[in-house]
Amino acid sequence: MQTNLFSFSSESSNKTKENVKVTEEKTKEQRESNIVFKLGDAFELIKSVEDNSIDLILTDPPYNDVTHLAYKNSLCYDKKLQLAREFKRVLKITGSVIIFCGFEDQFEWYNVLKQTGFIFKRQCVIVYENMSRKPNRNFIPQHESYLFFVKSDRYYWNNNLQNPTTVYKTIKVMTFNKRWLEYIGIPLEKIGVTPKPLKLIIQLVQLLTPCGGTVLDPFCGSGTTALACKLTNRNCICFEINKDIYEIAKRRLQMSNIEQFMY
Ligand SMILES: C[S@@+](CC[C@H](N)C(=O)[O-])C[C@H]1O[C@@H](n2cnc3c(N)ncnc32)[C@H](O)[C@@H]1O
Repeated sequence: MQTNLFSFSSESSNKTKENVKVTEEKTKEQRESNIVFKLGDAFELIKSVEDNSIDLILTDPPYNDVTHLAYKNSLCYDKKLQLAREFKRVLKITGSVIIFCGFEDQFEWYNVLKQTGFIFKRQCVIVYENMSRKPNRNFIPQHESYLFFVKSDRYYWNNNLQNPTTVYKTIKVMTFNKRWLEYIGIPLEKIGVTPKPLKLIIQLVQLLTPCGGTVLDPFCGSGTTALACKLTNRNCICFEINKDIYEIAKRRLQMSNIEQFMY
């Protein structure tokens, strides 16, 4: 497996900071973030991450869901368990895991993370308010879930962010997807990746990672986690196995007008 490394430091603009309502004091806001972005297999690359070095693992692995585009890449139970053990090794004692998952995956991720010693805190959902896909003789899917686990009761929690709830409401994902893929010149059909809402990922990063801390996303897709870290001055280590998607994420990270693509 080829492994490429893309690394840069950045400082986000004042306009962006206003838009994303970064809440930490100004001196901390002005720190630079360091994004380490590697092309390759997460199962191999995660071995190079230091023990007890990560504040938050925020990731959206391929779903084990026959209705999902990423089905062919889905992770079996043993693979999930292997990752859960690595998550335990690399996370600080104050660290958390946010994992997006399809319906069948939720039970497996819940089991492997519990089995590895993580503490389950909450299941949360993203609700898409204007879904139009009409399945035959079935309910229209309008939400996605993610699970929140912590390594210990000493987990970091930013009390400056007020009352985060289990529900995040936004617009349907493909509209946004098409717009930014068009903007950066990649045909939509080429890519089977669904970016998560950037505003939500920013909130999660701010809530669960101290300023200057480090987030790991081993399945980073279009780079939403890395972008959220760049905008909030957290460091990020992320991996992506697909060269086309890796290139998209790199370009997305270099875009200067991402404000218009937040939702
Ligand atoms: C559901 S997508 C993540 C989308 C992401 N949340 C975003 O906002 O764009 C999962 C990604 O994991 C990548 N992937 C699958 N298996 C992988 C592996 N073994 N190592 C690294 N990346 C992998 C896929 O190519 C895909 O881009």
